[in-house]
Amino acid sequence: MKIDVAITPESFSDKDLEGKIVVVVDVLRASTTITAALARGAEKVLPLATVDKVKKSAKEYPQGKVLLCGEREGIRIPGFDLGNSPHEYEDSIVQGKILLYTSTNGSRMLVKTKKARKVYVGSFVNMSAVVKRLVMDGIDCFIVCSGREGKFSLEDTVCAGMIVDRMRENSPKGFVQLTDEALVANIVYEHFSNDLNKMINQSFHGRYLVELGMKSDLSFSISLDLYDTVPVMENGGLIKSTP
Ligand code: MLT
Repeated sequence: MKIDVAITPESFSDKDLEGKIVVVVDVLRASTTITAALARGAEKVLPLATVDKVKKSAKEYPQGKVLLCGEREGIRIPGFDLGNSPHEYEDSIVQGKILLYTSTNGSRMLVKTKKARKVYVGSFVNMSAVVKRLVMDGIDCFIVCSGREGKFSLEDTVCAGMIVDRMRENSPKGFVQLTDEALVANIVYEHFSNDLNKMINQSFHGRYLVELGMKSDLSFSISLDLYDTVPVMENGGLIKSTP
């Protein structure tokens, strides 16, 4: 079984996704928030690339069924119901709702990977659930880091590296083969494995969110295995599954 990692969001084409299971990672904060929202009872998360698409799509649903969600530059979009902090997505708010969701990097990546055989959302908060599912599937997988505006991001690479690490641990010896990028992600993870808190606080986007007063989103985003939920793409929307 081959494991590949796209360390930057521009480093793959549609062809690379063919026949693969893709895991989209955006630790700060799209993949963390989407996982939390589904675990807390949201019916579906519809990732959309632009604010306009969210507004247009909202018109297709009865009033009260959808919530307009997401951020630009880390801040809730004017007129939207929710921003992108996982703390906003409380059970009582999201239960039974369809979330029309756009974020700077994460939702765009989810839209970009629709050609894959299957798409999951991975983060630290659902680490074991994602690894279990990938091991059960047992076919080639491609972990894509959403990064930051086309560039590398530390927290996504470390999360991808941890998925790689856990998959090796949970598979028979020699079964898992890593590409060079998967190996690099694994090495970066090993460097920070004893101090995810240091890693997230040093990361560029982590420091930016602290400036915005959202420090608690950082500690939430590195909380391992809070949920046994694997968001899975079905007909363009993410729904909850458990491994
Ligand atoms: C993104 O998709 O770029 C993020 O989730 C940004 C954020 O809200 O922190």
